[in-house]
Amino acid sequence: MKSKDWLNRQKRDFYVKKAKKQGYLSRAAYKLIEIEKKFHLIIDSKKILEFGAAPGGWSQVVIEINPKTEITAIDILDLKINHPQINFYKDDFLNFDYGKKENYYDLILSDIAPNTTGHQSTDHLRIATMLFDIIELIDKVLIHNGSFITKIWKGSEEKEIIKKLKEKFKLVSYFKPDSSRKNSAEIFIIAKNFIK
Ligand SMILES: C[S@@+](CC[C@H](N)C(=O)[O-])C[C@H]1O[C@@H](n2cnc3c(N)ncnc32)[C@H](O)[C@@H]1O
Repeated sequence: MKSKDWLNRQKRDFYVKKAKKQGYLSRAAYKLIEIEKKFHLIIDSKKILEFGAAPGGWSQVVIEINPKTEITAIDILDLKINHPQINFYKDDFLNFDYGKKENYYDLILSDIAPNTTGHQSTDHLRIATMLFDIIELIDKVLIHNGSFITKIWKGSEEKEIIKKLKEKFKLVSYFKPDSSRKNSAEIFIIAKNFIK
């Protein structure tokens, strides 16, 4: 999408306006709110790892829902929120030292997204590559019975991703929040009960 078209769409968008009014750093915040309403995973999580956290809308939602949880947030861009519950690492997620966090997190969140080209299958392959790396990391850092929530853009690798997740988790579901644009290829995968 051209940047002028993107700006015009942002100006019109209901959730962009709502986010501004309610003080959320991203319209994506509403997607996580809807996910939590249905799956109730944040409320009981003590340690959360968040991939692709900037500007910080999801982190805000996590803190609101669970004032006791500790978040490790990773992004190559700056987080626009500073809070005692958030440990932020500004880096590529592949460079983080996961060795210190083995069997540590009970919930992993990923709203990570590569820069888009506008070419749907290319964009899908890029996000899928990131997800394959994240799925490898899960083995190391997620505790037994932990959960994983991730965004994906639909496409050819989706089946393989779901297959891998079904090998690792007892329950795997799809969810399309109302706040996710209808014409977007985006969908969320909710994987519960990690088998260690
Ligand atoms: C859709 S945004 C996340 C929005 C966030 N959930 C929120 O509510 O504010 C996707 C993020 O993924 C990040 N990202 C992309 N590639 C990354 C990488 N290799 N390592 C870490 N973060 C990355 C981008 O910088 C971007 O901030």
